[in-house]
Amino acid sequence: MKSPWWHDAVVYQIYPRSFADSNNDGEGDFVGITARLEHVATLGVDAVWFSPFYKSPNRDGGYDVSNPREVDPRFGTLDDFSQMMNRADELGLKVIVDLVPNHFSDQHQWFQAALAAAPNSAERRRFHFYDGRGESGELPPNNWESVFGGPSWTRINEPDGRPGQWYLHLFDSSQPDLNWDNPEVNADFEKTIKFWLDLGVAGFRIDVAHGLAKEQIYQDHPDPVALTAALRLDVTDIDPEYRKQLLTDIPFFDRDGVHQIYRGWRKLIDTYPGDRFFVAEAWVYPTSRAVRYVRPDELHQIFNFDFLTIEWDAAKIKSAVEHVTTEFANVTAPPTWVLDNHDSPRVVSRLGGGEVGLQKARALAMVTQALPGNLYIYQGEELGLEDVPVAAPDRQDPIFFRTNGQQLGRDGVRVPLPWQGDAPPFGFSASKSWLPQPASWRELTVAAQNEKADSTLNLYRKLLRLRRSHPALGGLTEINWIESEPGILRFERNPGFELVANTTSTSYKFTTPKQVLVSSSPIEITGEEITLPSNSTVWLSSLD
Ligand code: GLC
Repeated sequence: MKSPWWHDAVVYQIYPRSFADSNNDGEGDFVGITARLEHVATLGVDAVWFSPFYKSPNRDGGYDVSNPREVDPRFGTLDDFSQMMNRADELGLKVIVDLVPNHFSDQHQWFQAALAAAPNSAERRRFHFYDGRGESGELPPNNWESVFGGPSWTRINEPDGRPGQWYLHLFDSSQPDLNWDNPEVNADFEKTIKFWLDLGVAGFRIDVAHGLAKEQIYQDHPDPVALTAALRLDVTDIDPEYRKQLLTDIPFFDRDGVHQIYRGWRKLIDTYPGDRFFVAEAWVYPTSRAVRYVRPDELHQIFNFDFLTIEWDAAKIKSAVEHVTTEFANVTAPPTWVLDNHDSPRVVSRLGGGEVGLQKARALAMVTQALPGNLYIYQGEELGLEDVPVAAPDRQDPIFFRTNGQQLGRDGVRVPLPWQGDAPPFGFSASKSWLPQPASWRELTVAAQNEKADSTLNLYRKLLRLRRSHPALGGLTEINWIESEPGILRFERNPGFELVANTTSTSYKFTTPKQVLVSSSPIEITGEEITLPSNSTVWLSSLD
């Protein structure tokens, strides 16, 4: 039997606000996206995942949804969405959309109704409203911290104006958590899932998929501030063992109750024709717990985020790949690989930035794209973009505000794409983009990189083409490691494919009868001897 397409798919993430602007208000929209979708198709991907474009007051980049079955006017209309779907279909691209089930926006009509209703009413039971502790309820029900910093509880004024109950928000105070013990919540989400499936989407990325079930509300956590720090990738001054301990038991993440929800959704999506699928965003430690989300009767994919923090180090890469592939194989699910997304530092910056950062990022991308399973590419990754230092007045991320500027937040990875021309906004819009682009992106526009044979854009195109055409790539066939010197990563996949990566700071010479398919930087070939520069990867093949 042929395996479903999502076993080895390449999915390109579009952050709609920053892809392309058609009405020149400085923010991206569907008409702009449709006009530029060919860029994604020519890259050679199978599908596009759209970060949220639903009705939203946009306090958290659209992850604060006030109507999940409506397109926010800033992105256009439902008709614009459908036209984009038609264009995607013409270009052979499937479309995946985001589903945000952990919370709604406080502007959602359910939350507004809850505020107007009485404690313990049906309206309040859709969220986590609780009485406070202390003599007059002046203390929050527990000491949990928001993932974005600050308290995770906000006290409301009751309709009569007096201070009253508290509601839970694991993220911003404008994102009240939904109460998944209430069947009404699931009924509404199933309606949303059907709404988009009926419009032809091929699947969903589930936001905070590990957060839906909560336990022990009236119990304090022993170290809530450290827990929030442990959850953040950019916090490194925490003892690794303590971090693991904190991440192993979190009262609001990865509770067993979530799995029942996904079994139900699996049954629902299976009633639709075509291979449609769910991918979970679930930051769950350890991996053996994470892969429980993709047991055969649950979700189809879960992001493996190991490569968002991986160092450019052969031994560490090998051990991560072995660990991930083994854990996913245990539940017979295909692994996934992610180098970049809208929440994490861009891979070039993370690996040191500048020319060396770019060299390492290209070499790491070549390792990633040669692995079995599914690949996610975040817009701009194919251009080798770096994080942009966004000035304080331009910052929008709630993380920046909730930590009083101590954490800069994620705006720097959400700056609009540079398409063409010599100066900002580089064809993104005809007016100033909502986050300013740096002038140095002149060299990195799509148009500029089209012209350069060895640009990162052309490298990605070549790699993705080979991933489709070489019989050993894509798919789920095994990795056969080849023992080599320290700092050298070397493996084969059958038939006839070999990868050599040099993570050391000196060049590496080896001989091979195989042909070079592609390399991340220029290499020297003398007969059968190859000199691979430091921070470089080469793909080889013994097939004609
Ligand atoms: C996820 C999203 C992130 C958002 C958060 C709250 O982690 O990727 O962008 O802020 O959930 O919805």
